[in-house]
Amino acid sequence: MKETLKKLLEATLERLQSSSDLTAVDKFKFEILDRKDSEYAKISMQMRDLSKEERPEMGKYLNEIKQQLETGFSVRINELKHARLSILETVEHEDMTFPVASAPTGHIHPITQAYFEIVEIFGEMGFSFAEGPEVEWFWYAFESLNMPISHPASDDFETYYVKHPEHDEHGRMVLRPHTSPVQIRSMQNQKPPIRVVVPGKTYRPNYDVSHTPMFHQFEGLLVDKNVSIGTLVGTLDYFVKKFFGSDQKVRIRPYHFQFTEPSFEVDISCSICGGEGCRLCKEGWLELGGCGMVHPVVLENGGVDSSVYNGFAFGWGIERCVNIRSGIPDIRMIYEGELRLLEQF
Ligand code: PHE
Repeated sequence: MKETLKKLLEATLERLQSSSDLTAVDKFKFEILDRKDSEYAKISMQMRDLSKEERPEMGKYLNEIKQQLETGFSVRINELKHARLSILETVEHEDMTFPVASAPTGHIHPITQAYFEIVEIFGEMGFSFAEGPEVEWFWYAFESLNMPISHPASDDFETYYVKHPEHDEHGRMVLRPHTSPVQIRSMQNQKPPIRVVVPGKTYRPNYDVSHTPMFHQFEGLLVDKNVSIGTLVGTLDYFVKKFFGSDQKVRIRPYHFQFTEPSFEVDISCSICGGEGCRLCKEGWLELGGCGMVHPVVLENGGVDSSVYNGFAFGWGIERCVNIRSGIPDIRMIYEGELRLLEQF
C-alpha cells in the first residue's frame, strides 16, 4: 500500500509539472484527490484490510501523502494563475480609445460669476478694478468715512472686532463691515480723476433671510471735477439695465449715510409684479443699496482737495443682486452648497 501511495504521489507531481492548463489541473486534482472515489480515496480504502496494529502507522503515512499531494496542486495552481496574470497584463493593456463616462465638472459659484460680471459692466464705463483688505483698521472702516467712534452712526454697522498685535491708536481692527474703506484707500493711491469698482467680502454678525455673516459688496467711487447727481443716476441706470435687464427702471430716494451728502437709497423696479406691487416689493420697487455724493470730509481724509473735486459713491450687496435677478427668496440658500440650486447658474 505504501508503494502504491508513493507511486501515486510521484506520478501526480510529474504530470503536474508538465501540465500548463489551469482548467486541466483543476480537473486532475478532482480525479486524484477531491472526488469521492478519487485515486487517493481508492487506495485509502485498503486500510480496511490492515490489522489493528498496522493501521496507525499507515494512517499517518496516508496523511503525509495527502498533504504532499495538496501542496503539489496548490503550488502548481498558483504558478499557473500568476503566469496567466502576467500574460493578461501584456495582452489586455489599457485601450486609450475606449470611451469613458465623463466625470461631473463643477463651475464657478454664482456669487463669483456676478463678481466678475459687475467688474466687467463697470469696466465698460471706464471704472477700473480695485481691492482692499478684509481685516481693516477701525480708522479706514469708520472714522475716515466721517463716522467718529462716539457717533451713533457706527452703531448702524454691527461689526466683528479683531485682536491684532499692532493695534492702531484706538486699539481696534475689524472685519470690514462694508467695502467703503476702499474709497479712502483708492483716493490715497491715485490722483483724480478716479473711477474704481471694488467688489469684495464683507462681514457683519447677522444671520437671517436676508443676511449672512460673510457677504459681498461692491463699491463704486468716482472723483472728478463737477460731478453731478445726474451722472450718478446715469451710471446706476447703465448697470441696472445691463445686469437686471433693459426694461428695468432705477430710482433714488433720500436717505442718510455719514460718508455721502446728499445720500440716497437705490431701488429697481420689481420684475416679479412689473411695478404693480407684490409681496416681495414695496409698491413695485425693490431696494438695492446706498449711494450719494462723497462727503467733503471723506475727500479730504483721502487726500483729495474738496474745493476742486467732488464725486459720487455707491455700495451694494452682490448676494442681493443675484437673489433679485434669479428670484432666490433666502440669501442663505446660496451658501448651503445645494447643487440643485447652484447647477442652475
Ligand atoms: N457702505 C454702505 C453700506 O454698506 C453703502 C454705501 C456705499 C452708501 C457708498 C453710500 C455710498 O450700507
